[in-house]
Order: sequence, then structure tokens, then C-alpha cells
Amino acid sequence: MNEQTKAIIKSTAPVLKEYGEDITKVMYRRLFDNYPEAKDLFANAAPDQYKKLASMVYAYAANIDNLGALQKGIEKVGKIHVGVKILPKHYPWVGEALIGAIGEVLGDAATPEVVQAWEEAYAFLSKVFIAKEEELYAA
Ligand code: HEM
Repeated sequence: MNEQTKAIIKSTAPVLKEYGEDITKVMYRRLFDNYPEAKDLFANAAPDQYKKLASMVYAYAANIDNLGALQKGIEKVGKIHVGVKILPKHYPWVGEALIGAIGEVLGDAATPEVVQAWEEAYAFLSKVFIAKEEELYAA
């Protein structure tokens, strides 16, 4: 991610704080519509799971220039993901649903620049999770 991308992501933190839970609710709807097989993975997830996801997406945007602040959270979520057998192939499913949800909820505020920046930022965070989870699966 270049500095420009990081600046755009950071500028979306306030709207994510405000609309994050709307976005993640829509994200799950899109995920399960497009990939019904993902439902099984969430069989035992808490009903307010979307709130945790929203809060992490917000924390990511707010700390995009200081990712060390997310390290502990990534570790914890990585362990939970491994416990329910999340695999690398699942990340693009969530990415597509999340970026689509950002567009759907933010409407005109989701400019092409914002969408492009989130595509890059999501790809970056996916790689971090996938690497962490690979390490946990191997252990
Ligand atoms: C970068 C992308 C992702 C982020 C930021 C993220 C974030 C989170 C967070 C914050 C939690 C809650 C952990 C807790 O309970 O404290 C969680 C749990 C979960 N995530 Fe993810 N996640 C991501 C990708 C994925 C993917 C790709 C899948 C698979 C489709 C997935 C499936 C799950 C499931 C099933 C749980 C709940 C497990 C349970 O409680 O039974 N996540 N994730």
C-alpha cells in the first residue's frame, strides 16, 4: 500500500465508525447470497459477530499507519479463524462482499478512489491473516 492509499483509508475511518455495522450486516447478506457454502463456517458464530467485524474494520482504517496496534487483535482472530477452519480461498469471498457492502451503504461517498483503496487495503490485511493462520495451522 502506498501513502496515498493509506491516506484514503484513514480518511474513511469516521464513516466506518458511523456506518460500520450497517456495512458488515450487508456484507454478511452479500457473502451468504453469493457463497451459500460460507454459512456452515458461521454455524456457531455469535449473532452479533457483525459488530466485532465492524469494530476491527474500523480499527484497521484508523491504524493503517500503525499496524502494530492491531497485532494482538490479529493474533486472537487468527486463532478463532483456525478453530473454524478458515482457509485462504475464503478471503476473496469476504473481500468481494465487504467491498460491495461499502459501495452499497456509502453510495456516492464510495468514490472509485475509495473503492480502489479498500480493495488494496483488504488484500493487504488478507495476506497478514493468511500468513498468521498458516503459521497456526502448521504449529
Ligand atoms: C481480513 C478479513 C477478516 C477480518 C478483519 C475478520 C475479522 C473477524 C473478527 C473480528 C472476528 C470475531 C472474533 C471474536 O469473536 O472475537 C471473526 C470471526 C470469524 N470470522 Fe473472520 N475476519 C476476516 C476474514 C474472514 C473470512 C475470510 C472468513 C470466512 C469466510 C471469516 C469467518 C469468520 C468466522 C466463521 C468467525 C466466527 C467464528 C466463531 O465465533 O464461531 N473471517 N473474524
